[in-house]
Amino acid sequence: MAGTGVETEQAGWSSRWAFILAAVGAAVGLGNIWRFPTLAGENGGGAFVLFYILCVIFLGLPLVLSEIVIGRHGRKDAAGSVAKVAQDSGVSTNWAILGGIGIIAAFCILSTYSIIAGWVIYYAGVMGADFFGALFSGDPFASALAGEAPEAIGGRMDSLFANVPLLIVMHTLFMGVTIWIVARGVLSGIEKAATYLMPAFFVLLITITAYGAFTGEFARAVSFLFTPDFSRLTPPIMNQALGQALFSMSLSSAALITYGAYVSRETRLPPVAGMIGLADTGVAIVAGLMIFPIVFAAGLDPAAGATLIFRSLPLAFNAMPAGALIGFLFFVLIFFAALTSSISLLEAVTAWAMRRFAWSRHRAALVAGGAIYAVGALCALSLNVLSDVRLLSFWPSFAEADIMNALDGVVGTILLPVAALLTAIFIGWKADRNLVVAETGLEGGLFALWRFLIAWLCPLAVTLILLFGLFPGLLGS
Ligand code: PFF
Repeated sequence: MAGTGVETEQAGWSSRWAFILAAVGAAVGLGNIWRFPTLAGENGGGAFVLFYILCVIFLGLPLVLSEIVIGRHGRKDAAGSVAKVAQDSGVSTNWAILGGIGIIAAFCILSTYSIIAGWVIYYAGVMGADFFGALFSGDPFASALAGEAPEAIGGRMDSLFANVPLLIVMHTLFMGVTIWIVARGVLSGIEKAATYLMPAFFVLLITITAYGAFTGEFARAVSFLFTPDFSRLTPPIMNQALGQALFSMSLSSAALITYGAYVSRETRLPPVAGMIGLADTGVAIVAGLMIFPIVFAAGLDPAAGATLIFRSLPLAFNAMPAGALIGFLFFVLIFFAALTSSISLLEAVTAWAMRRFAWSRHRAALVAGGAIYAVGALCALSLNVLSDVRLLSFWPSFAEADIMNALDGVVGTILLPVAALLTAIFIGWKADRNLVVAETGLEGGLFALWRFLIAWLCPLAVTLILLFGLFPGLLGS
């Protein structure tokens, strides 16, 4: 039945909670545990966090609801769903382009995401071997990588980056598992994975945060994350906070529209959108409260950047009691979070390929996953043999970026904001009002508020991100 849209029509979550878990799984990922603490750390903490939360509330939440509305009404992949809403609203089906951009974004995000998830698998393996070694020699509370010099611990990251076969093996593992789960389908693949992985993720998150609260410098982390220094809140930093909010809530990347297509007509969507936003933001903040007490206790630099959790944290685990166990659990936790997100990214592309080429789910997942795998392999090589390749050397903002960073930069500063802008205009101005009212289930003042945010505030704010992302010179800094 693939190719007729019937497969998506029949496939669906077994319950409202199953959808919530899967959507929260899509939202919570490397963005929360790796990217958010990195950006908060680099940008001075408090003011960044505050601005980020404002973006989530005023832009992210209205967009989450809009995307689920599109999916549930259209009941197809992202491009197909937008076309259906457009058709039922009597406007041009060319609006499907916004779904198309999202699908391209999902493709690109997953190819870089899988490489970083590969680093996570490597560290989980190293820490796991270390922990079980200590356990079998009768010392379950050993610190991580005991006896290894700090330079050697930090140097593991460099040796990993230089090791092409190892990077490719990790990438293969991660994409392999992702493809396998997506190929199994919505119910027995995606939903099942989320119902096992997400509860396990939350238990680990609470355990490690509690550990950090008791053994680390919790008070210092709290003041770092919540004391705003507004002098640090420059326009480029606001720009980053907005982009991070879109990325973290899985917006503009076809995933939420696709997952929305599997939601039953009975589910009330606004509370669900609220829960997704709350859980995603809550996890980002708790991840900060998990990581920074450990970072501060070990005397490490919170502004270490992209390698904070890979280069710095193992040093902290090295200095902590039971560091081997906690380090192992920490990387397992990130792996679970990354996997539920990568599943949603591949599903977004797979659902489109199934409709577009009338392929079976197996075939679509395999071909889409294979293409993403190939681009991902190029990203892995950009860490070593292709590190001098500059795809966008003609473009000042990306002139220095290697393949992986160029892909990441184009998606973050162009594709995501463009898709978000188009979504806001489409839902705010083009989609039939009765259709939107019926799908959102919002009435009166609440509808007016949501409509104001989506029709006015989102387009305006997102246009600003887009401009400043593309032309940082406009800001004069
Ligand atoms: N939201 C995920 C994260 O924070 O890691 C990343 C992501 C997943 C982005 C799914 C986009 C998407 F469609």
